[in-house]
Amino acid sequence: DQPAASANVGGEDLTIINIDLLEEQAQKKLTAFAYAFVSGAAGDEWTMRENRRAFQDFPIMTSRLTGIKKESIDTRTALMGMVLPSPIMVAPMGVHGVVSEQAELATSAGAGAAGVLYQSSGASTKPLEQIAETTNGPKWFQLYFNNDIGVTRSLLQRAAAAKYSAIVLTVDALGPGGSDRVRRLGTSVPRPKFVFGNHDPRFGGSGDFRNQKENLTWDDIAFCQEASGLPVVVKGILRAEDAVQAVKAGAAAVQVSNHGGRQMDGVPSSISVLPGVADALGGKVPIIVDGGVRRGIDVFRALALGADAVAIGRPVLYGLGVGGARGVRSVLDFFNTELKTAMLLAGVEKVDAIGRGNIVMRQFV
Ligand code: FNR
Repeated sequence: DQPAASANVGGEDLTIINIDLLEEQAQKKLTAFAYAFVSGAAGDEWTMRENRRAFQDFPIMTSRLTGIKKESIDTRTALMGMVLPSPIMVAPMGVHGVVSEQAELATSAGAGAAGVLYQSSGASTKPLEQIAETTNGPKWFQLYFNNDIGVTRSLLQRAAAAKYSAIVLTVDALGPGGSDRVRRLGTSVPRPKFVFGNHDPRFGGSGDFRNQKENLTWDDIAFCQEASGLPVVVKGILRAEDAVQAVKAGAAAVQVSNHGGRQMDGVPSSISVLPGVADALGGKVPIIVDGGVRRGIDVFRALALGADAVAIGRPVLYGLGVGGARGVRSVLDFFNTELKTAMLLAGVEKVDAIGRGNIVMRQFV
């Protein structure tokens, strides 16, 4: 089903040459604070750079003379009981209000218009119910587990009531991530007030967003499942052993991620650890990966190395900043179009058929 573009899809269509050029446009358009906040990462930003560089460790191997033509390229992806038009989704990112006044209402509308699954951050500017109303596409709710168990339970119940179809439990962010880029700006530029809509009492919220549970345990996965009645995706896994343990503890899927390098600098890139996680899980549950995906060929490589779906972070916020909801849709269309081209050129008709044989396996971490 092709979702109809909703009335909320404002903004402007963007011609996207590539994401680096889009980032340049975003830098010109966004406030200094917003650009530093979105583009930055922790420490020396080694992990953030490595997220991109490491894709180069996996050159693509192609098949020739396959008889496949453009029209038959099929990116439909079966994932957790759904059939998505493509394996691309939007990664959860907090406070889109820093980038655009419409905040997540524009981002989620753009994702819906592109037919792309929207992972809604627990730290959104707008409350989760309003975001749910503005996207006509599939959506998951990302939870920051609150120390106050009543607050956590209420968020999980609200997500289920608003028809999010899964909970994404983020386990790699035990506090706010820091960035030297942001710190360096200091008081030289105006700082927006961070608004966390899910915690606003006017929308049924209570409690302090920043009161996050640091000492998460494996039992918290089952709690999320039971309190929401929804499948739980555990986001922020790097170790294969942790992936196996998460599944034992009830995870319905695993999201391999280092939070875009925004939490601990020095940890490996997502793509380098993906093959190990995929081997350890052996197809038991779906794997989503995010971090440094900037091209259709990156999506292709992630699928080849064992991911079932791929989440996009910063590029979506650059699209939001430059073109609003339509800008977001343009970014997602760019990835979908590039993925189709990659599949055609590699000689693979369906996403399921993309596998290790499509990669020259030179290096493992
Ligand atoms: C994030 N990320 C994130 N993750 C999460 O689980 N909850 C959140 O609220 C946020 N917030 C957030 C804000 C901003 C501005 C960014 C850029 C990222 C991490 C995000 O989900 C994802 O893991 C990375 O962004 C993926 O890397 P790329 O695509 O940005 O390289």
